[in-house]
Amino acid sequence: MDLRSLIRDIPDFPKEGVIFKDITLLLQNPDALKETTNELFKLLNGQKINKVVGMESRGFLFGPMLASKLNAGFVPIRKPGKLPSTTLSETYDLEYGTDTLEIHIDAIEKGDKVLIHDDVLATGGTANAACKLIERLGGEIVQCNFLIELTFLNGSSKMNDYSVQSLLKY
Ligand code: PRP
Ligand code: MG
Repeated sequence: MDLRSLIRDIPDFPKEGVIFKDITLLLQNPDALKETTNELFKLLNGQKINKVVGMESRGFLFGPMLASKLNAGFVPIRKPGKLPSTTLSETYDLEYGTDTLEIHIDAIEKGDKVLIHDDVLATGGTANAACKLIERLGGEIVQCNFLIELTFLNGSSKMNDYSVQSLLKY
């Protein structure tokens, strides 16, 4: 089915000049929900994964479903102050200012085979910080996959050390 037709552009959201890719129509369509999960799963080409890591908050939509299909666990990476136990954090640069992501230190074991998943790869700041957190905990990043890649923002250039796959490129 045509998944692109279920992703709509919202101009000037969340701020002026940004065109937001809204996936809520895709999420609310039962066939599209299943097909998206299956297609993201197929991007792995049979590679073994034992942890899927998703970034708050939209990485939590398909991340756990992918984990379930892969017989893997799911690990949330969250915005600061949200995770209750001991965390490791990684700060990265934005156009103006910085952002920080956190992970529980006991979420990844040395040698874990990790799939990092998020809905969108834009500038790559979020995904790159997630990769660093996983590697600092000794995990091995098998693939980073995304539902949408905004190629004009060149996020994949920040991800040269990793295998990056995305379902839909804009
Ligand atoms: C969006 C998107 C990715 C990130 C991509 O999340 O869901 O996580 O931006 O941008 P980057 O490649 O430039 O880092 P956002 O921070 O808007 O938060 P949300 O997922 O909670 O909506
Ligand atoms: Mg996000």
